[in-house]
Amino acid sequence: TRTPVGIVGAGPAGLMLSHLLALAGIDSVVVDHRTRAEIEGTSRAGILEADNVRLLTDSGVSDRVRRDGSPHDGIALRFGGESHRVDFRALVGESVWLYPQTDVFTDLADARARDGGDVRFGVSDTQVVDLTTELPGILFTDADGVAREIRCDILVGADGSRGVCRSTVPEAARTHFFREYPYAWFGVLVEAPPSAPELVYTHSERGFALISQRTESVQRMYFQCDPDEDPAAWPDDRIWAELQARVRGADGFTLKEGPVTDRSVLRFRSFVCEPMRYGNMLLAGDAAHTVPPTGAKGLNLALADVRLLAEALERALVKGDRTALDDYGPRALRRVWRAQHFSYWMTTMLHRAPGTTDFDVRRQLGELAAVVDSTAGSTYLAEAYTGWSENRPG
Ligand code: DHB
Repeated sequence: TRTPVGIVGAGPAGLMLSHLLALAGIDSVVVDHRTRAEIEGTSRAGILEADNVRLLTDSGVSDRVRRDGSPHDGIALRFGGESHRVDFRALVGESVWLYPQTDVFTDLADARARDGGDVRFGVSDTQVVDLTTELPGILFTDADGVAREIRCDILVGADGSRGVCRSTVPEAARTHFFREYPYAWFGVLVEAPPSAPELVYTHSERGFALISQRTESVQRMYFQCDPDEDPAAWPDDRIWAELQARVRGADGFTLKEGPVTDRSVLRFRSFVCEPMRYGNMLLAGDAAHTVPPTGAKGLNLALADVRLLAEALERALVKGDRTALDDYGPRALRRVWRAQHFSYWMTTMLHRAPGTTDFDVRRQLGELAAVVDSTAGSTYLAEAYTGWSENRPG
């Protein structure tokens, strides 16, 4: 098969890119080693920046986010046993939307199917070849066991943090920047009503906890744990006791409990690969960078990459301006490093590292108070959390 753009990875980044290219009249083929059901069965983050909600609706993917998602005008930062609201709408005039990544994926996969997009799920033995030539290729075995080859002008690696695209780039041609954290998240889905109107990011002596939501009857919660924690060692009672202990405070706030239907440990780190290009292959989303989950920037950053990348590919392939390919990575990286800082900052401000001293805890509480008691401090958080909009300064 010959196509202008070959895309490895049919997650939100790869599918959104394929969708935007189709709007510009550019064909593409997307391959993924996972099946649709595998991707839909994985719990991921739940917060979309307003710009990405507009991207989904205005580009004609779906308006389901406006019906099934819910706008959140702020969050609570909870520390010292008290909640402090950060009012995004008042501070920066924007909201975020609670809408799970799995639903974003479903909407995109449905839209590509509806519009006749070429998306091949469940392929195996994917390889990317001839990246520095005029005709890079994707070699794979399709879901029926037939060997296939796709040749393209530009190849896009949107295959996540452990994908083949980045690892095919010779080590001498890429620099990795990363940071590990000495903790992980224990994530649960629970059958219970919401415990609070908005998300609650909690600092406590026992470590971080995040109270998020999914629907009126299903909630998503996380608490900081050891990276080697075994989910099987956590029956429902133990999970609830730990979560309640972390959010407890003088105001009497307690979580509404119910059966735990899903539990897993999420390891995390900060990572950036530079440059985001090798020959005629460009990287987007987690294939190029990973953030720790605090602040929910991963999916949002991937979609921001894709907005820039679709524009760059249109300039390169329709208008014949190949310098667009040089501009893409540096432009994307400006936002990537802001998001790296924000995710690192939210993470380290709210978590308790092994060996933390009383000084460290008091300093974190001072930092949190400085954020919530100052318009300048909370405005920075609100700008970053809602996303650095093209239409807003900052
Ligand atoms: C969710 C995950 C996050 O990492 C976050 O910062 C907020 C919400 C979630 O899964 O709902």
